Amino acid sequence: MKVLITAGPTREKLDAVRFLTNRSTGKMGYALAEAARDAGHTVTLVSGPVTLPFPAGIELIFVESAAEMAEAVKERAAQMELIIMCAAVADYRPKQIHLGKLKKQPGNFLLELERTEDILSTLGASKVAGQILVGFAAETDDLLTNAAQKLKAKNLDWICANDVSRSDIGFGSDENAVTLLGQDSRRYGIGPDTKRAVAEAILEIVTDSGR
Ligand code: CTP
Repeated sequence: MKVLITAGPTREKLDAVRFLTNRSTGKMGYALAEAARDAGHTVTLVSGPVTLPFPAGIELIFVESAAEMAEAVKERAAQMELIIMCAAVADYRPKQIHLGKLKKQPGNFLLELERTEDILSTLGASKVAGQILVGFAAETDDLLTNAAQKLKAKNLDWICANDVSRSDIGFGSDENAVTLLGQDSRRYGIGPDTKRAVAEAILEIVTDSGR
């Protein structure tokens, strides 16, 4: 299959020396890309800034911001049979980017943020027939309820509910555990296990059982 996977955080610039980002390290997305490659798929990986080694045999596209990730993904989405949005995409970016370095002033500083595009919602709204669309739901509370809502709201085939409040399986860790929710209330518990093993299990389910 032609597979597109996104991984890592995004960086939203504030000025010449500062940006907003999050704790994603890209490990889960890279594990998915490598597992998909090893299962014989043709893989494109759209990656935010990470410090992981470049995986061989994968088309790798580096982006920084949510807007750049949206462009890279949307450009390629129509040709893809499976898309897994594993990236931790920023929901907001600074409304104004200052060209130079912002100087400090006396008193507090109010930063105005504007929404970024929800890439997965865009993909869900214009889904190609037969395409399998998979999201991740990073939650600290009400994991399965929130994940099920995202599955429906974004018109996905599958969503991996990921409890990011646990330090043993959360951001940066080498292990993960997810509950994979499908339409018609299908539900699979995966892990805790290495991110590579979790990736293999996710791929097996979403490619074998289709939607
Ligand atoms: N996502 C996306 N574009 C965004 C934000 C998120 O494509 N601007 C994708 C993520 O890659 C993930 C899914 O949407 O696959 C859910 O992301 P998550 O951060 O869990 O949820 P949000 O939709 O951002 O909702 P909230 O922040 O309210 O939990």
